Parts: sequence; C-alpha cells; structure tokens
Amino acid sequence: MQDNFKPGSAPAAASPVETRHPPASALSDEIVRWQKSHGRNTLPWQNTRDPYRVWLSEIMLQQTQVVTVLGYYERFLKRFAQVSDLACAAPDEVMALWSGLGYYSRARNLHQCAKDVMAQHGGLFPRSAEQLQTLPGIGRSTAAAIASLCFGERVAILDGNVKRVLTRVLGFSGDLSQSTSEKALWKQATDLLPRDDLVHAMPRYTQGMMDLGATVCTSRQPQCLLCPVSALCRARAQGDPEKYPVKTRKLKRTAQALSLLWAQKPDGSVWLEKRAETGIWSGLYCLPVFEGEEELMSRLDETLDVRIAALPSFVHVLTHKDLLLTPWVLNLGADQPVPAALVCEARPAAWFGPAQWPALGLPAPVRKLLAANSPGLADSGKAV
Ligand code: ADE
Repeated sequence: MQDNFKPGSAPAAASPVETRHPPASALSDEIVRWQKSHGRNTLPWQNTRDPYRVWLSEIMLQQTQVVTVLGYYERFLKRFAQVSDLACAAPDEVMALWSGLGYYSRARNLHQCAKDVMAQHGGLFPRSAEQLQTLPGIGRSTAAAIASLCFGERVAILDGNVKRVLTRVLGFSGDLSQSTSEKALWKQATDLLPRDDLVHAMPRYTQGMMDLGATVCTSRQPQCLLCPVSALCRARAQGDPEKYPVKTRKLKRTAQALSLLWAQKPDGSVWLEKRAETGIWSGLYCLPVFEGEEELMSRLDETLDVRIAALPSFVHVLTHKDLLLTPWVLNLGADQPVPAALVCEARPAAWFGPAQWPALGLPAPVRKLLAANSPGLADSGKAV
C-alpha cells in the first residue's frame, strides 16, 4: 500500500492499473463515520442482518431507484415473509408482485434462487460472497453486498454508484468498457476496504459507499463540499470530477414502434396473452403485441368485418429503448371470440375481467392503460 498520499496534494495522472490510492484506513474510517451521521439509516431493509430481506432489497435495487422499490419491497415481504414462502409460490403470483418493476428476468431468478436456497442450502442463505454468487441472479457485487451487510465479510461491492465514487477518489482513468480496467478497479476496491472490527465496519462501509454515490457523489454536479473524503479525492483536486468514470463504449439507445391489441367485451374484460420467456416483458400477461402497425393491419386483412380504432400513441421509456406504443381497440360482443388471425396459438391467452387484473403480472404501460379505463385498478394498491 502506498502511504505517500497527502490530502489535497495535486495528484499525479493515474494509470488504470497502477493508480496510487489514499491510505485505505483514512478513506474507510471517513466513510464509516460519515455513514453513521449522514448516510441512509432508516430504509426498510436496513437495521436487519436477515439475508432474506437484504437479498430481496438488493435484487429489487438493481437498476431501480430506492423510491420505486419501497412499495414493492413492503408488498413482497407481506406476502412472502420468509424465503420458504417465496419458494413455494406460484410463478404467476411472483410476476404479479413484480409487475411494474421491470427487468423481469430478475423476478424469475429471484424465484429460482429462493427454491435453490430451500433445496440446496436447507433454507439458509450461504454466508460467504463466494457461495452466494453461485445462486441465480446474484452477481459478484450483489453477493458482496449481502455478505458484507449481513455477515461483515471483507468483500468489495462495485455497482454503478460505487464505481463513480472510487474512480473519482482514485483519479482512476482506465476505460471501464475494458475488462482489464474493471478488474483493476475491483482490486483497488478490495484494497481500500476496512481492516478492523469488520462485523461493524463492513456493513457501514458498504452502505456508506452506496449512500455517498447516491446522494453526494452524483453523476452530474457532485456536491464535493458535503463529501467526507473530498480532501482525499484526486478528481476533486484535478478540478473536474465529472470526467470520471471513463467509459468509452456506451450502449446505444434504440426506438421501436409496437401496436397493442386491446380487444374488449361489453363487461370490460380484455384479451391478455402470456408473453414468451425471453424478450421484452417476458413471462408477463399483456395485450397482444404486434411489430408496428403493418403487422397488425396485414393480419386484419385476413379478417373481414372487423372494426378497430387507434387510441393516441404514447412513449414508454425502457433503459436502452424508447417504445412508441399504439393501442388499438377492438370491441367484441359477449360471445364473440378474438379473430383467429389475431391470436398467437403458441401463447396461453384468455379473457380477464378488471377484478382479475391486479393479481396478474402486467407490464407497467399496459397496467396504466387499463387503469385509465378502470378506476378500480388504480386503487388496488399496486404501483405501476
Ligand atoms: N442500492 C443498492 N443497494 C442499496 C442499499 N442497500 N441501500 C440503498 N440503495 C441501494
């Protein structure tokens, strides 16, 4: 470990692999102290070392903000108080409770993980990050979060927030699109972890790094004046913290137009199809989806005597894609089936009345659309 670092001293340009870093104890002591007084300490998944609760929160918090997760977390725990309850749930019920959180493979992995914990670990989550990582949906950083928060293991997390904090503090200019740079940063993250009193220090440190990234060391306009490690921070000394982290290969955003068939009966029930296990909204119930208007219209050409009307299109934003969604309303009689040309034989589908919608896993935009037509759904306590 280098010990020639002086707070506030002008940093030398840092190479990605050989970045000299501040004394680990100074950094971790400050983070731990700051977390106690200024970090987040009242979130519902805190003040417990129950790995089931911490695991559930960490999976929900992957790619999702705290404010969004709060309601889902509470509803999930109310229904599945323990991992055994989740393990024996019906998949559709798990999807329904996840509906609107997005990234639905997380829900499927979550369910499988609960089953594996029951079948392979006697209902107890493993206590080491190494073993946790063998379970579905638990990657290196999530495993480290669980093991450090619950068991005080000395392992580093490296989610997006923590990458930002560390690359700035270290002046780490390696390109994180490159696996060698990412690997070097993992190594630095590990070197900087607390070394003493791990049972107390590790949960604070892990939470502190997350909190610092989320509340102070933000991507835009970081609040360096409020930062407990600003005196140690190379990026601050260089005067441009926003240049970190360096990532040259960015995922390109795309756009896609989809038509949604909203077939409904006079009693308000709608025709919903179960989506395939891969791709967008996988495993959820959904209005039948057609690629753009052309596909829907060409199917309709095969069907005489069908009157269909478009509602205004709206945009639904996914992480890397903007969806332009156009609902097409098809009003059918009480005994009239959906025209065969519009039905996908391979997918389970059925009529569902408004009272059934809350218990189904529905994509957020479809839930919103249906709710707008059925005030009862909006009051059902399910977020969209
Ligand atoms: N994001 C990921 N894990 C978190 C946690 N434990 N608290 C707040 N935000 C988080």
